[in-house]
Amino acid sequence: MRELLLCPPDYYGIEYEINPWMSVARAADARIVQEQWKQLHATLSKLDCKVHLIPPQPRLPDMVFTANAGLTVGRKFIPSNFRHKERAGEQPFFAKWMEQQGYEVNWLPEKLFFEGEGDALFGGEVLFCGYKFRSDIQSHRAIAEMIGCLTISVELVDPRFYHLDTCFCPLPDGGAFWFPDAFDEYGQRAIREHVTDLIDVAPEEARHFSCNAVIIEKHIVLPQGAPQLVTKLQERGYRCHELPMTEFIKAGGACKCLTMFMPQREEAVT
Ligand code: ARG
Repeated sequence: MRELLLCPPDYYGIEYEINPWMSVARAADARIVQEQWKQLHATLSKLDCKVHLIPPQPRLPDMVFTANAGLTVGRKFIPSNFRHKERAGEQPFFAKWMEQQGYEVNWLPEKLFFEGEGDALFGGEVLFCGYKFRSDIQSHRAIAEMIGCLTISVELVDPRFYHLDTCFCPLPDGGAFWFPDAFDEYGQRAIREHVTDLIDVAPEEARHFSCNAVIIEKHIVLPQGAPQLVTKLQERGYRCHELPMTEFIKAGGACKCLTMFMPQREEAVT
């Protein structure tokens, strides 16, 4: 059974602007926030996942985005080093909570920015790592050493797709769906070389955060607004669960950003 970490949106809101989606003038509707988050929670719980909840903290409105807590592989947890001071306060809460769950906390050097599973996703045996807007490319080598796996660093070039999980989603069958324009030419080439059967997401669907999906075996939980992608995924035998995510997209996040795998992988294979 997959175990996941979510954080209730009690203190969620648009209180600062650290990505192009956020505007303090465009507040999230508190009632709809609760509804959308509960629907995500219910959907994941029904898919036979064990959902853990970390207590939310006042004045840390983005703590709901647990994909940025860190990266969990086996019993190791590597906490994020957030680029923006607005989110740095989340780190001790996530690290302490994971330690209490029995994870071995492995710290990255403080000077290396890294934003967790939001920028680090396994596709097959390879850990794809995004960099530039949030994570530093130098953090990837440190992570590879800590967990003993092959990492492939891919540069993100579109500020709207500032984390890897906003534009790339590996599938358990070895394929992936992605928004190619979010990567530079080298990154595109690296992904094409390592991933067979890529599904390209159209720009109008990518901006609905369609790549920001949680995959639980044959089930895909993704934001509404990507009919073409959903058809392609269904043709490949996946069952799609499309959820309204409007209030979280206002902060630049959706289903996957709101979820961290505990662990993402049992063990890394070198
Ligand atoms: N407002 C948050 C930020 O800018 C959103 C994080 C989205 N998380 C993600 N894994 N893409 O940091």
